[in-house]
Amino acid sequence: MAPEVVCIASWNVDLIAQIPSPLLRGQTQLASQLQRLPGGKGSNAAVAAARQGARVGLVARIGGDDFGQMGLDLWAREGIDSRHVQRAQGQVNGTALILGYPDGDNSIAIYPGAGSGLDALQVEQARDTIAGARWVMASCEVPLAATQAAFALARAHGVRTLLNPAPAMALPEALWPLIDVLTPNEGELHHLAGVQGADRAAGALLARGVGAVVVTLGARGCRLYRGGHEPLAVAGHAVPVVDTIGAGDTFTGALVAALTRQEDWPQALASANAAAALSTQGRGAVAAMPSLAQVQHWLAQG
Ligand code: RIB
Repeated sequence: MAPEVVCIASWNVDLIAQIPSPLLRGQTQLASQLQRLPGGKGSNAAVAAARQGARVGLVARIGGDDFGQMGLDLWAREGIDSRHVQRAQGQVNGTALILGYPDGDNSIAIYPGAGSGLDALQVEQARDTIAGARWVMASCEVPLAATQAAFALARAHGVRTLLNPAPAMALPEALWPLIDVLTPNEGELHHLAGVQGADRAAGALLARGVGAVVVTLGARGCRLYRGGHEPLAVAGHAVPVVDTIGAGDTFTGALVAALTRQEDWPQALASANAAAALSTQGRGAVAAMPSLAQVQHWLAQG
């Protein structure tokens, strides 16, 4: 069956070392644990959407090494369509070096590797898949030219678009009006808007042509801004955290899946908040990403 959600995706292998406290410049610490786990904001969001019941396809570029194979194995297990994934033989796969801290927070350095070669031509090769989808999503971990090409294609075919602007960076002028939904965290919101104050910053992004801005606030939930509507705050969940890696990606994937199921905004944002909270209960990005049944059970419990 054709994908309902197409993700223009990054794929990284996450090398996660647990250390006692954030490193100071020039400092060395002993790590208590080292793990090699699936990651990449695009792949993470795709897995989250698939676990929430959406039919998901990827447009991605992976390395010819073992790390690339790990992605293909993951997507096969998750039922994600990888026919538009290109394997760049002789190139290293995207890799994220992650330092995890005892409170569940982390610092990340990303080397995109083969993913930096994902371009508009590869997007064009997935034209029919994109045109037949309901949503196209991306993060800023893939080259912006590929995202812009995919979003232009989506717009031409009435397919809706979601951008997770992480990591935060300047976006091309022409991309803004192609974004139906933008999901920045507070830091990304202010970086993108160049002004302080969430209401003013979100208003500035709507003025550039974005359809809706969903500001993610971690355990405090999220806030939706749309032109002509009052802001809508949806409460989050304070839960004991194992780690927050991939929580934002889980929110994005679960939100797209909920909107694909045609949930209204309050319902969809509640589903996304719940999925993100549940995802912090396990180590790494995908281990604790919940199924749709788990999210519905959690929400039913209040
Ligand atoms: O958002 C978390 C992700 O950021 C990690 O999985 C890592 O790969 C980086 O892309």
